[in-house]
Amino acid sequence: MHRCRPGGVPAPPYADVGVVGRGSGRRVLSDRQVGSGSAGVGGAALAGHCRCALSQASQVGVGRGSTVSRRSDLPRRPPPVSAPPAGPGARCPASAMEPGELRMLDALAYLMGFAGCAFFLLLQRLASPYGRYASEWPGPRIPARTAWVLQELPALAWPLLECACAAAPRLDRLPNRVLLAMFVVHYVHRALIFPFLIRGGKPTPLFTCVSAFLFCVYNGYLQSRYLSRYAVYTEDWVTQPRFLAGCALWLTGMVVNIHSDHILRNLRKPEETGYKIPRGGLFDYVTAANYLGEIVEWCGFALASWSLQGGAFALFTFTVLYPRAEQHHRWYLEKFEDYPKSRKVIIPFLY
Ligand SMILES: NC(=O)c1ccc[n+]([C@@H]2O[C@H](COP(=O)([O-])OP(=O)(O)OC[C@H]3O[C@@H](n4cnc5c(N)ncnc54)[C@H](OP(=O)(O)O)[C@@H]3O)[C@@H](O)[C@H]2O)c1
Repeated sequence: MHRCRPGGVPAPPYADVGVVGRGSGRRVLSDRQVGSGSAGVGGAALAGHCRCALSQASQVGVGRGSTVSRRSDLPRRPPPVSAPPAGPGARCPASAMEPGELRMLDALAYLMGFAGCAFFLLLQRLASPYGRYASEWPGPRIPARTAWVLQELPALAWPLLECACAAAPRLDRLPNRVLLAMFVVHYVHRALIFPFLIRGGKPTPLFTCVSAFLFCVYNGYLQSRYLSRYAVYTEDWVTQPRFLAGCALWLTGMVVNIHSDHILRNLRKPEETGYKIPRGGLFDYVTAANYLGEIVEWCGFALASWSLQGGAFALFTFTVLYPRAEQHHRWYLEKFEDYPKSRKVIIPFLY
């Protein structure tokens, strides 16, 4: 979505950062160095791979609290950054910046988008294979709580692994750290808090749990690897409107999601397993208030990260949750005669 592409557009939120190394040892390349290709690894890479037209001044971070302004009309692309040497006790290989891996991360993002569209079509015909529809699916089952912890954990483990990894060069930059923290915060809640609050959740079919687990391995790798090793932002990206609006959406979505799940949970007394009509919060407007929150949350993340990877995850979330929201809506209308007829499926006042 935003990385420099052959052809030179669109302008990315990243600076054409000519930073080599990190910490006290990193350097900012001057335009002359860039143009002449005489700036070592980063400069050679810049000169050799110029593809992206940037015509505005960019801010290049050179250390905590300081920036250097640079103006250039030279086409550039974010350079590969040489990984810092792994220190004593480092657990990850130092040669982390593989251009091939970046291409793979792009391919994986496209694949996620296509898979989401396929699921979207499939879920028009099939019931989502868990929760109130689980009985329609065969096979062994796992208690809901265990299933949620197991299946969501990989999405938490990946970014934590990257944080513990000495060869994650982008994590010394504030925008990358904030974005990865947003991802981690969500999955701390989803994997370690949400499951233990469930009341009377239906056992999950094993194949659903395994599928969700594999998805979290996939997405955890995609988001955390991209943010920790490849995404290049200017230090002032955290004050840009897209980032701020994205963070606000992310936070609003998460609050709506958690609050809505809280309302659903409290419909049941301990040991109850039946269903009641949810009321209050956004449930007064839509059937799937918790899904609305989740979708808004990941759209906010996509906006703040302005990345193909973030966009693919937001799209996937929508394509999986939207059909389930429609199913829930139909289900409520069938089961409850007094279900509020004015209530929409997922978009207040509209749909
Ligand atoms: N990012 C993604 O792709 C993704 C995908 C799936 C889910 N999620 C998130 O995971 C969370 C849970 O999803 P879900 O699909 O399990 O949500 P759900 O179908 O709304 O169910 C949530 C919980 O509330 C209970 N419940 C739902 N409606 C109820 C009612 N009318 N009366 C009493 N209890 C009710 C369910 O019990 P039962 O199990 O007995 O039905 C379940 O324990 C949500 O926050 C969702 O956004 C995210």
